[in-house]
Amino acid sequence: MQVDVLLGMQWGDEGKGKIVDVLTPNYDIIARFQGGPNAGHTLEFDGKKFVLHTIPSGIFHEGTMNLIGNGVVIDPVTLRKEIQNLIEQGVPYTERLLISQKAHLILPTHRLLDAASEAAKGKDKIGSTLKGIGPTYMDKTGRNGLRIGDIESGDFQQKYQALKEKHLQMLERLNFNPEGLAEMEKEWMDAIEFIQTVPFVNSEYYINNALKDGKRILAEGAQGSLLDIDFGSYPFVTSSNTVCAGACTGLGIAPNKIGEVYGIFKAYCTRVGSGPFPTELFDATGQRLRDIGHEYGATTGRPRRCGWLDMVALKYAVMLNGVTKLIMTKADVLNEFETIEVATSYAIDGKETLELPFDHANQTLTPVTKKVKGWETELSANDPLPAALEDYISYIEAETECTISIVSLGPDRTQTLIRDQQHVG
Ligand code: GDP
Ligand code: IMO
Ligand code: MG
Repeated sequence: MQVDVLLGMQWGDEGKGKIVDVLTPNYDIIARFQGGPNAGHTLEFDGKKFVLHTIPSGIFHEGTMNLIGNGVVIDPVTLRKEIQNLIEQGVPYTERLLISQKAHLILPTHRLLDAASEAAKGKDKIGSTLKGIGPTYMDKTGRNGLRIGDIESGDFQQKYQALKEKHLQMLERLNFNPEGLAEMEKEWMDAIEFIQTVPFVNSEYYINNALKDGKRILAEGAQGSLLDIDFGSYPFVTSSNTVCAGACTGLGIAPNKIGEVYGIFKAYCTRVGSGPFPTELFDATGQRLRDIGHEYGATTGRPRRCGWLDMVALKYAVMLNGVTKLIMTKADVLNEFETIEVATSYAIDGKETLELPFDHANQTLTPVTKKVKGWETELSANDPLPAALEDYISYIEAETECTISIVSLGPDRTQTLIRDQQHVG
């Protein structure tokens, strides 16, 4: 068996949570491999809405195991809140959830360091979700981090205090007052107790044994390729590898075990936080996309920046990830638009290019756009798609050399059109 991977092609919030939930019946295990509570994955079904941050989006399905992989960073406080929501829904989480012993812990002081670092950057701030992601990955690569498995070691408290002291010194150098830390620590320690109700596993063995046993596995990405630490618009990125390679290191899967790679993208683009966004619309059209698409962050509630689909960026993401199937979401948000635009290339200093430049963050890119006819009609998963939308899809398929297997037509599980059954699952 192989591991399929589902990844965001843009700047996150492409609808990964919804689609993973739709695809879960085809899988035995859903595994998150990177990111942490900076993610907000929304699921809607039976008139209910859930936002998951750390827990994989297969959790509502009976018979599916959900693994939080070694590449994920975990804030026990957020995780406990998520689990409490599951308990309220009667979800037997202890039977459906596993945590890798090697996943790193976000400490309260990591969150303070995130805030201090952003404050120090002033107008150049990343626009982080302030969940402590960057500082936690820094401690991981700096070989200072605390891991889930450490909780069960006899000297966890000492390890915690040592790392906290180090952080306090850093905060002092940044002139950041660690106000409220005592309460944060109490809440965190309580949550540490609580999350021990979830089995901690040697997850690379778990996943590889499951593969041997013929289990079907889907790796669920967080964020999107354009927020990747290596390939995104550095420094306005997150601190993990969001691309397909991250599934190998974040779960312990060899590259030759990767099967299908689903690349998910919105029919237009959004971005939260700072950083370049070539097709961003600052006008009434951008606001219209935000209003119709309810483009406000699932984690922070911040308004998302909106703009047209960027083919240069989409093709880049398809290339980096080896995408085998594309999934288009939020097509319905464009229902009322007479005309849609797509960026086909960029102009930099009067020169046209099909590549994202090295110093993306400091270049003035002008998108070269083409107009596409809108479909100006409602969409339904039970009816054929309107011709203008089929044309839009065919154009994207031709440009990316990839089939669009699924089109999402609304936030609910049922509002999903599987275009090519044999290409799904
Ligand atoms: P994720 O981070 O990739 O899981 O995406 P988010 O949950 O942050 O943001 C996607 C938002 O769009 C959520 O509010 C979803 O409920 C919603 N959504 C997902 N697919 C569709 C769709 O096809 N149409 C519409 N209108 N909303 C969608
Ligand atoms: P999902 O999984 C959208 C953005 C932040 C900020 C940058 C760095 O829901 O798609 P960080 O907190 O990681 O230090 O923030 O990355 N960002 C996201 N944007 N969706 C996400 O996750 C994001 N996770 C981080 O807004 O610009
Ligand atoms: Mg999101």
